[in-house]
Amino acid sequence: MNYRHHYHAGNFADVLKHAALVRLVRAMQRKEKGFLYLDTHAGRGRYDLVAAARGDTLERTPEWPEGIGRLWARGDLPEIVADYVAQVRAFDQREGDIINPQPRFYPGSPRLVRALMRPQDRMALFEQQPEESALLKEEFIYERGVGVQTADGYAAMRGQLPPPEKRALVLIDPPFEARDEFENIAGAVGEGLRRLPAGTFAIWYPLTERARVDVFFNRLMGMKPPPTFALELTVVGPAHPMKMKGCGLVVINPPWQIELELAPLATWLAEALSQAPGGGAGLHWLVREG
Ligand SMILES: C[S@@+](CC[C@H](N)C(=O)[O-])C[C@H]1O[C@@H](n2cnc3c(N)ncnc32)[C@H](O)[C@@H]1O
Repeated sequence: MNYRHHYHAGNFADVLKHAALVRLVRAMQRKEKGFLYLDTHAGRGRYDLVAAARGDTLERTPEWPEGIGRLWARGDLPEIVADYVAQVRAFDQREGDIINPQPRFYPGSPRLVRALMRPQDRMALFEQQPEESALLKEEFIYERGVGVQTADGYAAMRGQLPPPEKRALVLIDPPFEARDEFENIAGAVGEGLRRLPAGTFAIWYPLTERARVDVFFNRLMGMKPPPTFALELTVVGPAHPMKMKGCGLVVINPPWQIELELAPLATWLAEALSQAPGGGAGLHWLVREG
């Protein structure tokens, strides 16, 4: 496994995923009762964008300028985007980037959700890569209500569901290095839904090969899931040579009417993050509500 999220932190894909994640957490918190946030592929929890650009041995082209960098100085963010950017800004400042015309420290999904957690909510974080996991453990060592384990997130999910709270938001955010990643996800989601039929599952995926995504959707629909939609964002047109032209988030058991926030969110981001003509956004129900 060579993947390090470090190099991609704050890119357009993180922006869609994290902005939607903030909406999902807020929606889960419409109910007073606490919930489990389960992050199957948690990463190291936080990223230093300057160190990422330095690379391990060679300088790397940073990806964040085309992501969070595009939103940083805008004064016209709609509320649903402004909420996410405010979370990133608060993290960046807290970590010491006081004069910040550009972001320096970027919160990964665990840090982003941690900032929103209420005392009754709980987090279980899994990361398989030992070095990333060691950093994640260090990050949360003294924090109550946050569990961190070095483990395969798919297997670990089985052990966590159903949680005592009977409510869960599961983020599945794999690196897609393995050819069978979609298969792994479908298997884990099937098992997860058997254990917690009302659980909310958010699955991030890259738009590199449309056909593979469609096979995945068919596999999901074959499982006769509860209401499910796919939210997608592309930053270039279909003929553009860029490999990852966009990304998506499948949401199973979405919180009530969250599509009314997420569809405009993706539409706005498609314009703000466009890298070439022909991109766009959409929200498609795979299984409709009601
Ligand atoms: C896309 S990154 C996660 C980013 C993180 N969710 C965020 O939004 O900040 C994927 C992570 O999954 C880890 N990983 C790969 N295979 C895994 C597995 N089977 N179980 C758990 N973690 C895994 C990688 O080491 C990498 O840190």
